[in-house]
Amino acid sequence: MATTMMEGIERVVISAEEIARRVRELGQAIAADYRGGAARDLRRRPLLVVGILKGAMPFMADLVRAMDFPLEYDFMAVSSYGNGTSPGEVRILKDLDCAIGGRDVLIVEDIVDTGHTLQHILAGLSARGPASLRVCTLLDKPHRREVEVPVDYVGFVLPENLFVVGYGLDYAEVYRNLPFVGVLKPERIREE
Ligand code: IMP
Repeated sequence: MATTMMEGIERVVISAEEIARRVRELGQAIAADYRGGAARDLRRRPLLVVGILKGAMPFMADLVRAMDFPLEYDFMAVSSYGNGTSPGEVRILKDLDCAIGGRDVLIVEDIVDTGHTLQHILAGLSARGPASLRVCTLLDKPHRREVEVPVDYVGFVLPENLFVVGYGLDYAEVYRNLPFVGVLKPERIREE
């Protein structure tokens, strides 16, 4: 077992500085888009930002603090493949605490890969009648898509067919606490 996480990393794909810069840009862009709508209408509840656990946790924490805008946040947890399920099979492990009927909702994801997880979340939430439903993801792998899903805000598009870890993304539940996004050494994937 490695004693530091860096031992398992082959290379950094997106540095902590690049992430911080992009998250600030995204936060400002999202706040600008929602300003003038819900914020001006005092009868309307503030924007609800929904983080998808566990992967979106670090991104969500930084993103909401980059949004100079009144909002509430909540979390959902879903199982996706890699946790003993196959692609397309998605279960809700933890649902939202609050109702979303008539509310503006922004889903925050770590990565959109095949699109199955997000498709399932979107179907479930849109059935509850939100006023609007948008999606922000830190990472996007558009070339891997198996189902079409609308993604409104993207941090970074991964250029190759990479499996990445860090900043919330895991390999077998480890590496989520890396401050950057990187690629594992191939031998590390076999070892652990
Ligand atoms: P999708 O349903 O195929 O879009 O998969 C979404 C989920 O797969 C993500 O929330 C991640 O948990 C996982 N995933 C996909 N690609 C990666 C990756 O490169 N690293 C870590 N997890 C990934």
